[in-house]
Amino acid sequence: MIIDSTKENIKKAAEEIIAGGIVAFPTENVYGLGADGLNPTAVAKIFEAKQRPTFNPLILHIASRDQLKELVSIENDKVYNLINAFWPGPLTIVLPKKDIVPDIVTAGNTTVAVRMPQHPIAKALIEACGRPIAAPSANQFGFLSPTTAAHVEKQLSNKVNIILDGGKSDVGVESTIVEVTNDGVFLLRHGGISLEQLKDVCDFVEVRDTNIDKPNAPGQLFQHYAPSIPLKFISEINEAEIKGRRLGGLFLKENNSEIEFEQVEFLSKAGDMREAATNLFSHLHNLENNNLDLILVEPIEEKGLGIAIMDRLVKATNRYK
Ligand code: TXA
Ligand code: MG
Repeated sequence: MIIDSTKENIKKAAEEIIAGGIVAFPTENVYGLGADGLNPTAVAKIFEAKQRPTFNPLILHIASRDQLKELVSIENDKVYNLINAFWPGPLTIVLPKKDIVPDIVTAGNTTVAVRMPQHPIAKALIEACGRPIAAPSANQFGFLSPTTAAHVEKQLSNKVNIILDGGKSDVGVESTIVEVTNDGVFLLRHGGISLEQLKDVCDFVEVRDTNIDKPNAPGQLFQHYAPSIPLKFISEINEAEIKGRRLGGLFLKENNSEIEFEQVEFLSKAGDMREAATNLFSHLHNLENNNLDLILVEPIEEKGLGIAIMDRLVKATNRYK
């Protein structure tokens, strides 16, 4: 059930988490499905609700730097440069874990992913719990990420009793994930902090291949973020594929095609990439709700946040290849 994020309801949600339950809550990136990150049985409920493979590890959400020190060892000053620049905010950092972190959170890895969200409701919830919250995006594994409480309800209404409403997530794509080792800073997932922003803070950032079929590092799946109806790049379709079909179109700022669409959505009429990222999943949710046969999407220029947007679109279209 969707409930307003009043003080009382945040307390109620925290009690549910402390008691070993799961709760959906807003972050500035996407909505998360949270459980007590130090309680393996509670964390198992997340995997079950999402039907997520357990080899795919979770992010721990924290509200203070003291919490970070309980969870990870920090051997490298670059970590502080990143934290000072981007926390609280859309950056997740993968670091060597301490024993207190359960294996189910890290899928047996010796590292754990940690982030400090900026969203006031996420922050209040973590503080009220007094422990880290393990949370993936609050959607069925492999499908569209939620950027409103209603999106969560659409996919998980029978799996989660409490959905805290925090309006629309304003970043709209997931956090950027970096792993910091003594060899450098490695980008594992493009997201709300762009590569350029990272490079302003760290002199060396290496991008790992984030679009592979059988990832050796998790979080790099080939197919992901897909709407429940087929999605294809407009540049890759032929006439036979679209003939007589109910089509949706997703464009950045204008539709220059001659194709006839039932429904067209624009990510940002001003061509602003921040606005485009905010709207990406919500427009795909709108299109997926409307009984179309196929959604055609225009490729986005891979610059700044455009890299994170294209990463999601490529993975979503891969499902329908
Ligand atoms: O914006 C976000 O980060 C959202 C909100 C809810 O915080 N969360 C999110 O979680 O996107 P999820 O589970 O959908 O994605 C987490 C990614 C996964 O792809 C996982 O493989 C990667 O983080 N990951 C987690 N722990 C890792 C580790 N130790 N090493 C490498 N990748 C890791
Ligand atoms: Mg996800």
